[in-house]
Parts: sequence; structure tokens; C-alpha cells
Amino acid sequence: MAFKKRPLNVSRRQLLLGGGALLAGTALALKPQAITRTTGDSHVHDAYFQRLSTALHGDGVATPVLLIDKQRLDANLETLLQHTQDRFDYRIVAKSLPSIPLLAYVMAKAETNKLMVFHQPFLIQVTQHLPHADVLMGKPLPVAAAQQFYFAQAAANTAKPTGFDDEAQLQWLIDSPKRLMQYKQLAETLQRRLNINIELDVGLHRGGVSESSDFLTMLDMIEASPYLRFSGLMGYEPHIGKVPGDPINHRDEAMHIYQKYVTLAETHLKRSIQNLTLNAAGSPTYQFYNQGAFPMNELSAGSCLLKPSDFDLPTLHDHIAAAFIATPVLKVLPQTQIPGGFVGKGLSGLMAWWNPNWEQAFFVYGGYWKAKPESPKGLVLNPVYGRSSNQEMLNGSANVPLKQDDWVFWRPTQSESVLLQFGDLLLLDHNEITQRWPVLRG
Ligand SMILES: Cc1ncc(COP(=O)(O)O)c(C=O)c1O
Repeated sequence: MAFKKRPLNVSRRQLLLGGGALLAGTALALKPQAITRTTGDSHVHDAYFQRLSTALHGDGVATPVLLIDKQRLDANLETLLQHTQDRFDYRIVAKSLPSIPLLAYVMAKAETNKLMVFHQPFLIQVTQHLPHADVLMGKPLPVAAAQQFYFAQAAANTAKPTGFDDEAQLQWLIDSPKRLMQYKQLAETLQRRLNINIELDVGLHRGGVSESSDFLTMLDMIEASPYLRFSGLMGYEPHIGKVPGDPINHRDEAMHIYQKYVTLAETHLKRSIQNLTLNAAGSPTYQFYNQGAFPMNELSAGSCLLKPSDFDLPTLHDHIAAAFIATPVLKVLPQTQIPGGFVGKGLSGLMAWWNPNWEQAFFVYGGYWKAKPESPKGLVLNPVYGRSSNQEMLNGSANVPLKQDDWVFWRPTQSESVLLQFGDLLLLDHNEITQRWPVLRG
């Protein structure tokens, strides 16, 4: 039986109404929900952050602080050492844990004296306060910065010998024949032996040697000088987990380049370099070397011991966040008020209607850190109001039970700059603040 086709009789009005309904439906579906659903809960934080709050109040802390959870730090270190086992030495990345007592703690617990240092003022402090450290520089410094280090060291030694022997314990990272020439001249001027570790470009393309001819020129320069000593290689490869494709293939490509330079050096020098410092890796990549044979003999890592949020990576799934910013709430406004008279008022209402998480406003002590609000849950930044290092505004739905003088906890996105912004680090040991650890200066 054949059906008779009925003409589609849709009026312009019906079309508009239908389109409008579809739009409204889509908008409603997209409209954000309150992140914190329950009301009337007197607990601002979960049990963990509640304990942190109690510790802070108990200690009389009243300004923004950086907390380090000792048990979590220990757990991260244990995890790292389980991965590296006795296959690799562990070198601590000092810039990511920038405090002498923190570094001393990790060095003792990990039973390593190996540090990677990136900043000349940090180098001076490390050699003075951790004179047993074995230091590899993590980047090539201008030769003038190296020279100033030797002046500072001489001055410190005149006052009171530090015990740090740079000729045995310090390696400068050198990336090119030109810089090597500068360091050679410095060594001759100082009449001191300088240990030279050559930076390799294993695919990151952040500098370092990328031509065999440059590498051989550098080896020859070092061998010919009584003031220079070849102390090893460093090839950093954080790109392997980031660029598209299989990270294991990228790892193998990077290691192939690394191996090429090891072989080149051994063939050219006619001796093994396996006893030298052959460094690679960082927090995001160190677990790529859990199994297999690789040309390096040590791995460096720092950030994974505190796991700031930039390190929420599959390769660090077994590490836990161990550092938090805590800051007191100064003011609570039940309704967020965007300045600007009538327009601002309208905008505030519209924003709170659209996103219930923009309803209340909390002004905290300090702010604008490289960090994300962590607790209580449901705190967000306002996209219109703007940010402040003095009194940052956070928003939350009407369900967020945060009051004046409560604590807000943030999770740093990285550790190296954030840890330096709060004065002494507060060490939290079994829910008690037991130590205050000064951070590196400069
Ligand atoms: C040369 C080098 N090695 C290792 C690291 C790894 O440091 P982290 O483990 O703190 O990410 C870095 C970080 O910048 C680096 O530049």
C-alpha cells in the first residue's frame, strides 16, 4: 500500500519557537551545577584538610604559609627509590626543593649526596651549608656567574673553611665549544681545575651539543688542558612523554642519541666513561626507565617528591600531593559584587544565576600564586573580577560553608617558584607543625 505524502506545513513562527526551545534546552544543559551540593554541613574541609586547619590554628599561624606533609614526602621518596632501586643513582633536583633543611632531609633519607643545582646564589648556599654535596649544574651559567661563585667561595673560606672541595665535588654544565673556551680561560685565571659535564641535546632542543664535531672539539679541548677534566654527560628528555606518539619510542630515540655520544667519547678517548656522571631524566620521565638497559647511570628528580599539580601525570600516578598553600579567609560576601554600578550589579546577578559557583565571594590573605584552590571543594576563580596578590577573590556556591578566619588550601602547580614565596616552609609531621625550614635566598 502506498502512503500519500503530506506537505510539511511548518510556519515561520513554529520554526522560531522550535529553534528557541532547542537553544534554551542546550543552554540549560550547559548551565554549570553547584560543585558543592550539600548544605548545612558544618565541616568545611574533609578529614585531611580539617586536620591541617586544626594544626595551623593550634600553632597560631595567621598568614599565608606553605605546608609540607612529612609522611607524604616520605611516601613519595619511598616510591621513587623503589623505581630507581640500585640500578641508578638518585640525584636530587635542588630547584624543586629549594630549602637547605629540606634538601638535607631528602639527602639523608635517600642516602645520596648528589644534587642538581640551577642558580648561582643557590650554589653558593648549597656549598656552604651542605659541604658534603656532589653538585652537577643543571644548566650552563654565564662564565661571569661561575667566576662570582669562586670569589664568594674564597671569601667564605677565608671567614671559615666550608669543607666543600669544588675540584672534587662540582661539575659545570657546558653546552658548546664557545662556552667551554670561556670556562677554560676562567680555570687558567683561577689556576683551578674545573670539572666539565657536557650537555647533550637528546631531542628536547633546548640547547646542548647536537653535532658530533662540536662534541669531539670539546673533548679535545678538555683533554689538552691541565685545568679541565671531563666529568660526564647530561641529556634531559622531558619531551618524550609530551610530544605526540608512543613515549617509549621517543625514549628509545633519546637514548639512542645519548648512547651515540657515550660511544663517541669512549672511542675517541680510548677509555671507558662508565665511572663518570651520566645523568638523565626528571620527575615526569624517570619511571620510563623502570626496565631495560640505558646509557645513563643516574636519574634526577625533585618535583615528584611534592607533586604539584603540573605533575598529575600517568607516569607519576603513584606519587601524592605533599605541599599545600594555606591562607586565611579575610572576608565573606554572601553575594559576589562586581564593581560598576548598575551594570556591575546586573552582571553579578547574571553570573550567579548562570553559574551557582559564582554566588558567594571569599577574599583570602594573599593570592595570585601559581596554584589552584584545593579545599574546601567548590572554590573557583572569577573570570571577570580579576586576580590579586594582596586579597584574592574566590567564589563558591551558597553551599560552601566557609567563614571568616577559616583556612583555604591551594595546591601549587609547580614547586620551584611557589616554595620561595612564603618565608619558612612549615613541616607537618603527624598533623603537627614540628619544624620551620628556611628557603634558599636569591
Ligand atoms: C636538566 C634537568 N634535569 C631534571 C629536571 C627535573 O626536575 P623535576 O624533577 O623537579 O621536574 C629538570 C627540570 O627542569 C632539568 O632542567
